[in-house]
Amino acid sequence: MGLLARYARLLPLTAATPAVNLEEGNTPLIPLPRVGERLGVELWGKFEGCNPSGSFKDRGMVLAVAKALEEGARALICASTGNTSASAAAYAAAAGVPCFVLLPAGKVALGKLAQALMYGAAVVAVKGNFDKALELARQAAETLGCAMVNSVNPYRLWGQRTGAWEICESLGEAPDWHAIPVGNAGNISAYWAGYREYLQLGRASKTPRMMGFQAAGAAPLVTNEPCPSPETVATAIRIGNPVSARLARAAVSESGGEFNSVTDEEILAAQRLLAAKGGVFAEPASCAPLAGLLKLKEAGRLPQGIKVVMVLTGSGLKDPDTAMSQVGRPVEAGDSLESLLTVLKPVSQ
Ligand code: F0G
Repeated sequence: MGLLARYARLLPLTAATPAVNLEEGNTPLIPLPRVGERLGVELWGKFEGCNPSGSFKDRGMVLAVAKALEEGARALICASTGNTSASAAAYAAAAGVPCFVLLPAGKVALGKLAQALMYGAAVVAVKGNFDKALELARQAAETLGCAMVNSVNPYRLWGQRTGAWEICESLGEAPDWHAIPVGNAGNISAYWAGYREYLQLGRASKTPRMMGFQAAGAAPLVTNEPCPSPETVATAIRIGNPVSARLARAAVSESGGEFNSVTDEEILAAQRLLAAKGGVFAEPASCAPLAGLLKLKEAGRLPQGIKVVMVLTGSGLKDPDTAMSQVGRPVEAGDSLESLLTVLKPVSQ
């Protein structure tokens, strides 16, 4: 069952809302005991890479596209660091409406670009970063009369609340800490709204501390000023002026949480650790929280024994180039058992 059907009573649906569905949501909350041991906490990863387009964006996109169709939209538009465009293009394809996507030229991971093109979106590479592309998309949406499906669209954040609801349902309670990467700052805001709602509905008895993690080269919420030239290997969160900054600051201060930043090296080390010790391959941006938790542990600032959920926002398959730049190549062998054993022996000893 997709999210609109599953959470019909908690989402703003009417009799006229079309039943858009790619079977999004209901993603696994994966126990990560070997990684958690290193941190001294009970660690879980909400693996959003299992959504149909491979990232958490599908949670909000399904609702944004359904409402856009309900309101008579004939085309969709978005700016994106990659995942929003993949998601928008997928739902537009399924609904049979055109989709325009504006991407920062040369700064979108290969898998995400392949997705937008395969789903049939009109893809435009804009000279400039995401913040510039978003500004242009907003202007173009108004001029062309397209529905804007970035997280400035309130239905996006509403749909993304479902992630928090699912976590509370899986654990039977909210976690102690919620660790999440922050780019345009919509997701952390949506999760906070979702947790608060479940508290109000009596479906959870507490809310977690919201711990937001940014890349050091694109950390406006840590430095408290816009970052004019954001730069990071985690291209998904290469954003200098987050649209939902105000909501995200409120989420962090109301929940007793924090924003912290991590370097690209720390992000990549965390990505390798999560894959090699957790069995989960997530994209670089998704690994900023683990990098941050490791850093907090080292500084003696991670309470021991608590329950921590990290949102693993996108699949590692989205960005094969960054993965391959960190690992070796396969060992070569001939086509005989003898030649195979010569390469396997050093491994098995
Ligand atoms: N992780 C991934 C994999 C993302 O793609 C994004 C944002 C984030 C984290 C940050 O979430 O913006 O709600 O704070 N990607 C957007 C995009 C900007 O265009 O795909 P946020």
